[in-house]
Amino acid sequence: MDAIVTQGLSKVYKGIGKQAVHSLTALDLMVREKEIFGFLGRNGAGKTTTIKILCSLLQPASGEAFLFGENIRARATRRLAGYLPEQPYFYEYLTPKETLDFYGKLRGLNAAERAGEWEQLSGMLDLRAIGNDRIKGFSKGMRQRVGFAVALVGNPPLLILDEPMSGLDPIGRRMIRELIVQQRDLGKTIFFSSHVLSDVEQICDRVGILVKGRLTQQGRIDELLAGQTPQVEVTAERVLPGTAALLRAKADQHRRLEERDIFLFPDAESANGAVKAIQEGGGRLLEFSPVQETLEDYFLREQAHGEHAA
Ligand SMILES: Nc1ncnc2c1ncn2[C@@H]1O[C@H](COP(=O)(O)OP(=O)(O)OP(=O)(O)O)[C@@H](O)[C@H]1O
Ligand SMILES: [Mg+2]
Repeated sequence: MDAIVTQGLSKVYKGIGKQAVHSLTALDLMVREKEIFGFLGRNGAGKTTTIKILCSLLQPASGEAFLFGENIRARATRRLAGYLPEQPYFYEYLTPKETLDFYGKLRGLNAAERAGEWEQLSGMLDLRAIGNDRIKGFSKGMRQRVGFAVALVGNPPLLILDEPMSGLDPIGRRMIRELIVQQRDLGKTIFFSSHVLSDVEQICDRVGILVKGRLTQQGRIDELLAGQTPQVEVTAERVLPGTAALLRAKADQHRRLEERDIFLFPDAESANGAVKAIQEGGGRLLEFSPVQETLEDYFLREQAHGEHAA
């Protein structure tokens, strides 16, 4: 059973007197149970729109979505997902403890269950020391911890987190990353959006890349990267100027460092050809090294590609 399935999900915003904005076009997503799925896209790609539809806060223009096989149009589906908004909204005069109690009531927990939730979540999210302070004066990091706790109230099997690390310092980011992994290890499914690739690369089982409302890629990170032929860096000395000029035209990058020429070729084939040309001209090969693309490079290339196509 998949945790999230969407079929042809689309959303159009119509401003009065303005052009319609297609913020989501025919989205087919599939998130497996008990995985961490990273939903990547630049600002305005449609991440929040997707998340709001999954949480029944927005109606899609067309298409269907299912959480654990249940259509999101059915009210009961809501209890399956805990949601952390991009900008969590709190009643500023409540304390974290009162806030969790409030959401516990909304989710139908009795007093004993709510007390148990506070015990567990305040420990997990390091909220005990600030449990009885008003949220009003809280920092971004403290608010994010309260927001995360709210998403966990009632122990939903799926967590939907909209940019959960955004605005946090490195320690705050790491704490959220660790919480996400911990929740997955407890058997939950986590779907989160981000444009910070290092966060995604470190913890996600699979990712989806959204470009202008369209999903351009979906899969395991290593598989997405494995499909790419690695670039090859060739370093040589005593390359004839004429040969260097020819190779520069074929290379993705070229630089000269002291007496050396360093070329970056798009694949092994063009790199092998270059080595032959260098050696035939009396040059000497110093280094031949495949360079594996990072998710960051891949993402940027996909973005550029998708934006051309759109
Ligand atoms: N209420 C609205 N009215 C009109 N257009 C909207 C509205 N909300 C979002 N949009 C448009 O829909 C598109 C997708 O927005 P969305 O907020 O889903 O992007 P996002 O990927 O979450 O971006 P970010 O990284 O900035 O949070 C954008 O082009 C945005 O301008
Ligand atoms: Mg957003």
